[in-house]
Amino acid sequence: MCGIVAYVGDQNARGILIEGLKRLEYRGYDSAGIAILNASSYLAKSVGKVAVLEERVRQDSPNGMTGIAHTRWATHGKPTEANAHPHSDCKGKLFLAHNGIVENYQPLKKHLIAEGHVFRSETDTEVLAHLIESAYHGNLEAAVQKALAQVEGTFGIAVVHAAHPDQVIMARRGSPIVLGIGKNESLAASDASALAQHTDQVVYLEDNEVARLEAGRFYITTQGNRSVNRGTTQLEISQEAMDRGKYPHFMLKEIFEQPEAVENALRGRLSHSEGVAKLGGLESVMDRLQQARHLIIISCGTSYYAGLFARYVFEALTDLTVETELASEFRYRKLNLRQNTVVLAISQSGETADTLAALREARRKGALVLGLVNVVGSSIARETHAGVYSHAGIEVGVASTKSFVSQITILTLMALLAGRSRDLSFEEGSVLLRGLEKIPDQIRAILTQSDRIRELAQKYSNAQHFLYIGRKYQYPIALEGALKLKEIAYIHAEGYAAGEMKHGPIALIDPAFPTIALAPEDGSYEKIVSNIQEIRAREGRVIAITSEGNDKLGDLVDDVIEVPRNHEILTPLLTIVPLQLFAYHCAVLLGRDVDKPRNLAKSVTVE
Ligand code: F6R
Repeated sequence: MCGIVAYVGDQNARGILIEGLKRLEYRGYDSAGIAILNASSYLAKSVGKVAVLEERVRQDSPNGMTGIAHTRWATHGKPTEANAHPHSDCKGKLFLAHNGIVENYQPLKKHLIAEGHVFRSETDTEVLAHLIESAYHGNLEAAVQKALAQVEGTFGIAVVHAAHPDQVIMARRGSPIVLGIGKNESLAASDASALAQHTDQVVYLEDNEVARLEAGRFYITTQGNRSVNRGTTQLEISQEAMDRGKYPHFMLKEIFEQPEAVENALRGRLSHSEGVAKLGGLESVMDRLQQARHLIIISCGTSYYAGLFARYVFEALTDLTVETELASEFRYRKLNLRQNTVVLAISQSGETADTLAALREARRKGALVLGLVNVVGSSIARETHAGVYSHAGIEVGVASTKSFVSQITILTLMALLAGRSRDLSFEEGSVLLRGLEKIPDQIRAILTQSDRIRELAQKYSNAQHFLYIGRKYQYPIALEGALKLKEIAYIHAEGYAAGEMKHGPIALIDPAFPTIALAPEDGSYEKIVSNIQEIRAREGRVIAITSEGNDKLGDLVDDVIEVPRNHEILTPLLTIVPLQLFAYHCAVLLGRDVDKPRNLAKSVTVE
């Protein structure tokens, strides 16, 4: 969603800020803006892509070594220039960019208007600029601290003031801010990927902290002005990860990185001698995990489907009662969280507002809260009691691909760990470990079919609707495959448990409504074949994803994609890959903006 970049140093800020915004484009946005401090202070905003703003800034060529920039994903007010950030105070001296939502902006705005402040936008953010103006008496940092004490809601902010051209003030509550400290320059952003090409020395701001940045220096205080001592940490994002390399889109690059994502997820975590997985991040809570009776998994979107997969795996390998819950609905359930309930939050970004809110609720009720998160140092990683990092590497494409595969790999390891500390046998554990080790090469084999899958996309991408069906371990994969097609290709797709077909959706089937059937030769193969027959009987076209060498589908289906054979628990790690490629190729053929699909954001920081 929204993105912030800030700079103070010995270089012209404009190029660095625009470059930073480009690095944040993947998060999703609809307008952008920049403010640079110089003799007259420069402010420019535009609707649409950062390239439009870049062209404006190129023509105006503002000089100045301090500035802030923002990409906005509209919440309060339409995507217009007036609503784009940075917002300024009445005098045009102070500029502010904001991620998050000011919940009490209406009473604050009323009060500020009564004081004589003039508002120019429909946003909640603008109240922050006027609040700080109202609290400002020569010390910008103090004014920010004082103003924020009146704010309810979430924020990550960047503030500059013409009277302090050597300072940028940053603050956060519930919305991430990371500082990057270089030799004669300091940067800040809402996402470390915007800093990676300038410095590898970063500082993560905590909630209710305020940072004053000067060139090459930073000072952190609490909102109550207590000084905070914190050193920098090493950033682990490589420049290579931020570039598309030989691939036309990040999404394709990330699909092709999946063998390595699985290798990274497994590295150092398999103990063959004990037939178990080792997850260092869970060691401190192993006693409580062993006593747990009840597991609730909370997450959103693709991460929710990973959780749904995990439910089947935990149930198969342990005696835990498992529930998978959409994080956004968690608060409406009256769940009885007993002492022995464990809540597991799954998130790629670690910043998803619904998941954060749900895990806070679970903590409040006394549950042990674990995390499975990709982005190191993110809010969810920090707010859980213990957890595991995916180590999938930065994922830039808005559609989750490699992080999903990484999540379901690690969830399998978690279930294996929990199972082996209960009654799962050494032999059963060993079989899974051996199967997992085959996965990276098996995914590589599927990726060689990309051209053929493009041909299938050519054949089918004119369809307006698709049905995806699967059973048991393949049911969450059907849901995830359908989500990929919807979000990237904008083709309506329904994911269904194959057994549910006859309870309604089969009414939709006709020659124009193709079905993708997940039919590997596993324990539910015969049943899914019956479902395929029901579709054929209604003249529906079928693409089947099945196991290598299965020639029994014959005339029953129109097209077949084969995946290598492995344990049925692990086969979803393979069957998802052709579905990702199918969605990708359909989207490219239809001319969609694959890495930045309309209306979507990579990191969903509003509830
Ligand atoms: C779909 C997708 C989203 C995310 C969801 C949760 O491709 O990326 O559905 O999975 O917004 O995001 P995280 O995992 O960051 O919590």
